[in-house]
Order: sequence, then structure tokens, then C-alpha cells
Amino acid sequence: MHSRKVSPLLPPSASLAQAATTTHRKIAPVSLPSSSESRLYSVPSTPFDDGKSPFEITTPIYYVNDKPHIGHAYTSLACDVIARYMRHSGRDVFFLSGTDEHGQKVETTAKNAGMDPQSFCDEVSQSFRDLLTLLNVSNDDFIRTTESHHKEAVQHLWKTLMDKGAIYLGSYEGWYSVRDECYYNESELVDGKAPTGAEVEWVKKEDSYFFKLSDYEDKLLEYYESHPDLLAPASRKNEVVSFVKGGLKDLSISRTTFDWGVPVPGDDDHVMYVWIDALTNYMSALGYPNIEEGSKFDKYWPASLHIVGKDILRFHAVYWPAFLMAAGLPLPKRIFAHGWWTKDGEKISKSLGNVIDPVDLVETYGVDQTRFFLMAEVNFGSDGDFSNEKMIYKINANLSNELGNLNQRIMTLVFKNCNKAVPVEMGELTDEDKEILATAASLRERTGTAISTQSIHEYVQHMVSMVWDANKYIDVQAPWVLKKTDTERMNTVLYVLMEVMRHVAILYQPLMPTSSNVILDQLGVPENEREFDHLEKEECKILPGREVSKPKAVFPRFEVPEPVSA
Ligand code: MSP
Repeated sequence: MHSRKVSPLLPPSASLAQAATTTHRKIAPVSLPSSSESRLYSVPSTPFDDGKSPFEITTPIYYVNDKPHIGHAYTSLACDVIARYMRHSGRDVFFLSGTDEHGQKVETTAKNAGMDPQSFCDEVSQSFRDLLTLLNVSNDDFIRTTESHHKEAVQHLWKTLMDKGAIYLGSYEGWYSVRDECYYNESELVDGKAPTGAEVEWVKKEDSYFFKLSDYEDKLLEYYESHPDLLAPASRKNEVVSFVKGGLKDLSISRTTFDWGVPVPGDDDHVMYVWIDALTNYMSALGYPNIEEGSKFDKYWPASLHIVGKDILRFHAVYWPAFLMAAGLPLPKRIFAHGWWTKDGEKISKSLGNVIDPVDLVETYGVDQTRFFLMAEVNFGSDGDFSNEKMIYKINANLSNELGNLNQRIMTLVFKNCNKAVPVEMGELTDEDKEILATAASLRERTGTAISTQSIHEYVQHMVSMVWDANKYIDVQAPWVLKKTDTERMNTVLYVLMEVMRHVAILYQPLMPTSSNVILDQLGVPENEREFDHLEKEECKILPGREVSKPKAVFPRFEVPEPVSA
């Protein structure tokens, strides 16, 4: 081995070519601090994820009774950030979304719209797909429960449960909420309504198949105990555990009074309860019942992560694991329940007229800004309150002023003072330089830890605070002053800043894919060097001497609207 004489600031692959053209330039023998340990993982492992295996992540499938709203956008975006983060980390990801099209709610809504249910579903399902496209969501598949392969999968699961003795025919009478598509016990009702506030109706005695849920009370409690990370956040998990401890009754899983559902195999008078149909989507999209070695199911099941809203955790944390246990299938590794958005402190509902249309948000503020705000504003898992003022404030502060403006300052200084190219003649790194580069170098691990525990807000916070540090650094180092006093030091400062920005833009890709890539283009980072592994590669560091183009603003500022006087 012979040692290189060129500065480690210069990527090795580029150094010889550079040397040929830059022999007249002084290249200081300084080295960037690099993380010593080699990172073999793709994301940090957790008790519920080894950090490497194929990763199925799912949104709930959305009811097609109405057009998409902010809640749907929120769940999809959270999944998208995690899915993209995993992919950039080198994980093999299968990201699934889709629409839940059966059941009484959809049937009644279609009827009220004067349409046959299938045409109605086709139309509304498309609007959910369109929303995902508009939000730049990178789902790998979009399942519809009216697809024949899905229906076959549900019927197969039903037959398996029947064969295992988990289903029996009985009769049901009791309270049902069509809005929640949920049965409620008399004791759960609050002022004659469901605990969610939804209307309930009395279902008169009818034949119904039942799933022996009562057999799973102890099994579920034992499973939660032995898999303490299955359900999160902890407060929601406690609610589920108390619910199960309160006693589980057998679950009615078929209806005879309407038709819009998957027929029960061997008994055409019954259609299946919409939740057994809907939950199976997570497996039918993987080709279930084909579970052969080498199949998609074999590769991705059990799902690594189901993200759901807090209102539907019970279905995912109680019914779904019980169905899977009864069928002898592995359980998902993690189920995370996020909170709900309110508007100006009030519950969002059509009747209050305060529904937030995600399409309006994107049109007003832009896709990446919408993605940023929804993920940054609240702790993932807690409730959040939406207002346009908060959105404008956050976009202006964190994106326009802090990130966009910083990028603009760095790139303008480089463009104007360094011959429209990445600076080459650099001096020794100071402690301040080393400190900020070390902070940037640790960003991947810190954000990875946040993402692998679904702390999306923490991921954003690490990113925002890295940008604060960089703003502080540029203000203290003042390269615009150095340009008159010490151009070598100015070059070093600008180079350090570009290298920090490379980390920021690469790691911001999961949250703001378009804007991050605009910044990476401005920094001159080649398209094939934007994965997380490239962060640490010496040869992928910002290349001295590479041309930069005239910078353009990435995030416009928004004016706070004047309050409307009555
Ligand atoms: N079809 C079922 C899910 C079946 S999954 C096997 C369903 N669909 S839904 O369209 O009503 O809701 C989908 C998701 O949107 C849920 O996770 C729900 O929590 C979320 N949200 C609905 N309104 C919301 C807010 N106001 N805020 C945040 N998320 C909310 O349930």
C-alpha cells in the first residue's frame, strides 16, 4: 500500500483527473473527519425489525364513501416517508395502499348517489389513486377489495378459519354503526351513540357466522406480553390491552341484509363483514393464498409495519392478530397508531363544513411544503391541530428562511466568488469545521433511529436542527467577509457548507423528494450518488472544481392572510 499525497478533501476517484487540470492550485492536506465504524446495517435494528429484511409497509385501505381528506393524506404521507427512507437505506420495500370498497356504508352512499356500487367505487377509488400521485407517494401497489384475486384470497382465509373450527353459524342482534362499520355492546354506547359519536342502529336478529374471538383473549394478552413492541405508541397499546382484558365476545362476521360484500363460501345468503374482507388486503396484495417458498408472500409476510389511525387500532390490534392466529399465519411485526387532525381546535367533519382538502393544500403551498408541514407539525402518534396560519408560519420559517435561504446564500457565494465552481484551494479545517461536519456525519444514524421507531417528527427535528447549526456556522464564519480578507478560508467554509448541505439534501429526500433533488442538482451531486450509503463514501463527497449553476430559490415565502373582518 502506498499513501496518497492528494488531499482527502478531494475524492480519490476524482483526484487524478483533477490533478491534471489543477496542478497550479494549492490543495491543502487536510482531511474530513470520517465515522470510524463501518455501517453494515441499512437502518438501525429494533426489537421488532432487524433493519435488513424485506419490508412490507401498509396504509389502511380507504373507504370509498367520500373523497379523500387530510386524514387520508396524512397516513399515506407518513408511510411514504418511512418507505422512502428505507429504500434509500438499501431496504427492499413493498409499500401498499388501496381502497376498501365493500360494506353497508359504501353500498348506501352509492345508492344515494344514484349509482351502482361498482361504478361508484371505480370513480371514488380513482380519486384516492390520484391523491397519492399528487402527493408524490411512492406506493408499490394499490389494492382494491373489489378485485377478483382479493375476493378469492378472503374466501380462502374464510375456508381456512372454518376448517380450523374458528367459525360457527349463530344469530346476531345488537347495535351496529354503519359509519364505523363496527358492532358495539350496549355498555359501550354514550348517550345512545357509538363512543366515536357515530349513529348506531339496532340490527334485528339475523343469521350470522361468528368468529370465536373469545378463544383469543388469553392468547392475545400473552402475545402482547411476549411482543412488547407489537403495538405503539404505549398509551394506545394500554387502551388495547384494557379492552381485551375487559373480555372478548365472539365476533359476528357475516350479514344477510345487504349484498355488497364478498359472498361467504358455500352460503350465498351471507356476505362477509367488511373488516375481515378489508384486513386480508395486506396479504392478498402479496398473492395470498400462494404462500410457497419464493412467492411474494414468502418474501414480505409478515408485514413489518401497519400504520393506522387511532380510531382503527382495535381492528388491527385485536381482530387481525386473532384471525391470523386462528389461521396459523404469522402476525405483523408492528402496528403503529397515529393521532387525528382537528381544524382550529374542532373535530373535522362534513357537517361542520371544516373538511381540509389535501388537493387545496398542494395547490396553495406545494407538494413538498404540504409533506413537510404535516410531518413536522405534530409528534407522530399525537393529535394535531391544523390552521393555515400555522402552516404558513412553519413553511416560511423552516423551509424558506432557514433551508432555502441558506442554500441560496451558499450557492450564490460559490457561484460569484469561486469561478462558478466548487472551491478548490482550501486550508486546514478548524475545530468549528470539524464539529459541524461531524454533526452532519451522524445525521444518518440519528434520523435512522427515529424512523425505525416511527418518530417521524424526531427525524424532521434532527434535519431542522442541522440546518440551524449550518445557519449559525455561516453567520459566525461570515464567508462574505472572508472573501475580502482570506479567500482560502472562505473556500474552506463554503466547501464545508456544501458538504453539510449534501447530507441535508440526501437525507431530506424521503420527506421532500423534489426540493431535495433540486438542491442536490445545485450542489452538483450526481444522480447516482444520492443514496444514504453515498453519504459516507469518500469518493462521493462534494467534488472540488466541479461547476455549479446559478442558484435559484427552492422555497418561496408565503404571506399570512389578513384576518377577514365580518
Ligand atoms: N377502511 C378502513 C380501514 C381498513 S384497513 C384494513 C378505514 N378507512 S377510512 O377511510 O375511514 O380511514 C382511513 C384512515 O384515515 C384511518 O387510519 C383514519 O384514522 C384516518 N383518518 C380519518 N380522519 C382523520 C383525521 N381527521 N386525522 C388523521 N387521520 C384520520 O378506516
